[in-house]
Amino acid sequence: MSNHKKIIVANWKMNPRTSSEALKIFEEIKPIALRAKKVQTVICPSFLYLESLRKKFRGNKIALGAQDLFWEKGTGAFTGEISAEQLIASGASYVILGHSERRALGETNEIINKKVSTALKAGLKVLLCIGEENRDREGKHLEFVARELLESLAKIQRRFFQNLTLAYEPVWAISSKEEGPDNPEDAQKISIFLRKVFVEIAGPDLALSTPIIYGGSADPENTPQFLAAGFAGLLVGRESLIPKHFNEILQAADAI
Ligand code: PGA
Repeated sequence: MSNHKKIIVANWKMNPRTSSEALKIFEEIKPIALRAKKVQTVICPSFLYLESLRKKFRGNKIALGAQDLFWEKGTGAFTGEISAEQLIASGASYVILGHSERRALGETNEIINKKVSTALKAGLKVLLCIGEENRDREGKHLEFVARELLESLAKIQRRFFQNLTLAYEPVWAISSKEEGPDNPEDAQKISIFLRKVFVEIAGPDLALSTPIIYGGSADPENTPQFLAAGFAGLLVGRESLIPKHFNEILQAADAI
């Protein structure tokens, strides 16, 4: 997998306040993202900013992604929802699904499963977030992440997994001031476990080639450590809104 580009994802969450601020952040990131040869940059802004960002570059060195979608196809009477097709028409090629901040609002594995299925069938690349709230000595967190993975991907045909990236994000490490990021070796052990579980439904070939990225307080300093530990990339929240820091992450990833 080392020949593949590192996938560095910016998850802007419900930031920034205006589209001109979003454009400003984007313009500061763009030159570095376009120059990075070994990195696929994916910017996931608010739905509202997708189209205006799409107009600011050509080619696929930078990809745009959404932070959620609705599971119904196309168009219809679903007030407040956004479909995969609408996202694609607005310039998105990726979508983050199953983020812990959405799970905290009530999203279950069953709901995430419907969304993943719809997104993959529509041709979007899915960044599926998996992660435990706590880690315990008895290893219950392993059962928990295995269930998240299996239930989120239930009944989806194998061939669609080609467009899947798993994002291992221990919930306690997300934007965490107290605990900070996970230890890269511990995170890597869990990602190996997840890959083993994934073999059960994807078969060995697809399971081995599916990228697993890390998220949870990733920053310029720990980027080389997580990538050296074998992660295929990073899902970056807080630091992705600070262009200087996000650029340093891109450069560190490009240097590996
Ligand atoms: P963080 O967020 O980098 O601020 O921890 C990561 C995420 O929520 O995806």
